[in-house]
Amino acid sequence: MTKTARAHPNIAFIKYWGNTDNRLRLPANPSLSMNLDGLYTQTTVIWRDDLTADELVLNGQAETGAALRRVTAHLDALRERLDIRGWAAVESSNNFPMGTGIASSAASFAALTLAATAAAGLRLNERELSALARLGSGSAARSIPGGFVEWHAGATHEESFAESIAPPDHWELVDVIAVVSGQHKAVGSQEGHKSAATSDLQAARVAGAAGRLAACKSAIQHQDFAALAEVVELDSNLMHAVMMTSRPALFYWLPPTLAVMEQVRRWRADGLRVCYTLDAGPNVQCICVRNDAEQVRQGLTRLSGVLEVLTAGAGGAAFLVNN
Ligand code: PMV
Repeated sequence: MTKTARAHPNIAFIKYWGNTDNRLRLPANPSLSMNLDGLYTQTTVIWRDDLTADELVLNGQAETGAALRRVTAHLDALRERLDIRGWAAVESSNNFPMGTGIASSAASFAALTLAATAAAGLRLNERELSALARLGSGSAARSIPGGFVEWHAGATHEESFAESIAPPDHWELVDVIAVVSGQHKAVGSQEGHKSAATSDLQAARVAGAAGRLAACKSAIQHQDFAALAEVVELDSNLMHAVMMTSRPALFYWLPPTLAVMEQVRRWRADGLRVCYTLDAGPNVQCICVRNDAEQVRQGLTRLSGVLEVLTAGAGGAAFLVNN
């Protein structure tokens, strides 16, 4: 049976950084994100007895290296947990450019998990799919449900899953992404999670995460942008403080990163409803209300050091494409 699934990437408002269990990717703290509409990974899977290994075609290119190994490791976890037999032929493509600071692993492992389990004839519920997607990439757990999503940290595989706290149309927020570098990040999140605990600040960041998540959730529920901006920027700053004070230190910011962050704060002081958040890279994701998004987009395109600007609203859940 061939099955095709689509999943959106997501942007975390409350960040996941560091694991309590690296193998199971149990996170050190709960996190909260918004799926990004219009951007997606589409993945087709067929399980075949006649293959001698998994196969991966990524954006039209046959892969044999690290990308295939990571897909096989995830498929091994699915084979073992769900008693699936055979090898998988996987074809996957993104409709958004790689290296733009949009984490493709979240959408990729969410789409792979849904397509692979459906192609094996399994009908899993959202919670099971989210926990399984987490094994491929932590943030992929959050790309299974739709809209605004909370990932419960949990102490076991079954307890660590994400669920929707509000549908995409609950609040018209837009992520306006200022791309300031097209370079691939030097240190990926997989390694970053492992070094998080070497920062003296990580324990404090983790200790306050549940409180920040509650504040963020309440801001979303009440559509209170000022409260959202405060906690989203604080949480991003805290994660980057941990990164910068890890051993070895991880510095993701470039000079234009800081310039955009400063501009965003100035715009907000002038009345625009916009705030920034950054993942493990130098590009700045500017979260704003729909009415202010066009002004933010135009302002960003005029800033020196900004190479490209992408926009995305709140997106839905991962789903199977008819085939
Ligand atoms: O899922 P990973 O291992 O790519 O980790 C994602 C880490 C951040 O993007 C920096 C934060 C987050 O919560 O998405």
